[in-house]
Formats: sequence, C-alpha cells, structure tokens
Amino acid sequence: MTTTFEINGRKVTIKAPDDSPLLWAIRDEVGLTGSKFGCGIGACGACTVHLNGEAVRSCVTPVNAAAGAKVTTIEGLDPKGAHPLQVAWIKAQAPQCGYCQSGQIMQAAALLKTTPNPTDAQINDAMNGNLCRCMAYVRIKQAIKLAAGSQGSRA
Ligand code: FES
Ligand code: FES
Repeated sequence: MTTTFEINGRKVTIKAPDDSPLLWAIRDEVGLTGSKFGCGIGACGACTVHLNGEAVRSCVTPVNAAAGAKVTTIEGLDPKGAHPLQVAWIKAQAPQCGYCQSGQIMQAAALLKTTPNPTDAQINDAMNGNLCRCMAYVRIKQAIKLAAGSQGSRA
C-alpha cells in the first residue's frame, strides 16, 4: 500500500504496509534520522514528531494515520534550526548524549504552541513521558522556561 503525506513541507509517498510505524517511513524511506528509536512501544518519547501540529509517538503511529496529514520532524521545526527552543537548548546546554533530545524538543514545541507560558506543573505534565537516560531533566526544563520567556508570540 502507499501512503501520501507532507513532511516538513514536502509531499512524499511511502510504499509500506499500512500498519508499519510512521517512524520507519520517516527514517528509512524519507531519510530523516533526527527522530530516534528508543523503546518502540510508545514509552520513551525519543521518536516524537508532530502530526497535524500534535506531538505523537511515531514508533506506535501507523504510517496510514499520516495519510493526507502534515508531519513535522526536528529537521522541519525551523528552517534555520533557530526555533526558540533550539536556541534555548543550546543556551542551557541541555543535551548530554543527545539521543532523547529531538523527541524532547518536539514534545516541548507542542506544549509551547498551546501553552506559551507554562507553569512548572504544566511542563512536568507535558514532558512526563519523555525519558532521558542521561538525567538531563533539570537542564531540559530550564531550556523550556528560557524559550517560553523569549518567544513572545511565537511557539
Ligand atoms: S521509540 Fe517511540 S516512544 Fe520510545
Ligand atoms: S541526553 Fe542522553 S538520553 Fe537524554
């Protein structure tokens, strides 16, 4: 079966079983490797992308759920890699090994879109399912707060 969708503004048609993971399509067919495979069961957040603006776990999202939709990955979050979160991430030196980080940023971007100035509790709640085996949680939270303070009307 084929599935056609838009990814980072580009239309793609993927030839794969309808229930194969969107993450495989993104990484293996489209060739965008910023979204990572961690657990494969929707439990770590490393594969987080946006599907029509909402954060989803692409490892447990069937590719056909993206039919006709807009998918955004870390590569498409900002054309210059200068989204307020990306700038804040660098400023806060958030990553350690980096493996979880694209998922963290995509999850945080979805949060800031709906909640531009989140409270600590809202950040904790939104980021709760994004695991970091390097325990960079404090710096990740700092970066989200930095971005929230700097972004004005943009998220
Ligand atoms: S790889 Fe998708 S949630 Fe862990
Ligand atoms: S920075 Fe290493 S897993 Fe998060």
